[in-house]
Amino acid sequence: MKSLYLVGFMGSGKTSVAAELHHKLGWLVEDMDALIEQAYQTTIPEVFKEKGEETFRQYETEILKQTTKENTIVSTGGGVIQKEYNRNWLKTHGKVIYLSTSWEEIKRRLVDDENRPIWNNQDRDKESLLVSRLPYYIEVADIIVETDGKTTEQIATEIISHLHE
Ligand code: S3P
Repeated sequence: MKSLYLVGFMGSGKTSVAAELHHKLGWLVEDMDALIEQAYQTTIPEVFKEKGEETFRQYETEILKQTTKENTIVSTGGGVIQKEYNRNWLKTHGKVIYLSTSWEEIKRRLVDDENRPIWNNQDRDKESLLVSRLPYYIEVADIIVETDGKTTEQIATEIISHLHE
């Protein structure tokens, strides 16, 4: 079966849902941010600080192309859908699951976050960023799961119930 690509804004629960899907399906998990850090021997905050977002986006596309295309759960970075190339790649290579989370919920979940360069950049309007990305998440999604008020377990069960549609 095609790999499952979890997409959604920062704080939508991609990493924890990927872990739960691993538990339930037994498939391996690939985390794109972790793969970037491994491949380029750096950290995500360091890439943003030293090289800037554009370079990060280039790394992201390279890594996306190297993800395993079958029987794997791929946790993507929240901005992977910004590039048209990445959107087309996702639509043709994977089964894409959009974890749809409200702005209010995202703010609650990321209140103590210190590791996400865009989230922690006071000059960025994150709510507008979410709004501008919504059509792209929807464009690439085969399955949309609302996550507000649900446990990780409920979300994973819901995803699995849609897999053979
Ligand atoms: C980003 C989201 C991050 C990470 C990078 C950029 C974004 O991943 O890829 O900081 O542009 O939304 P998460 O969605 O896992 O936080």
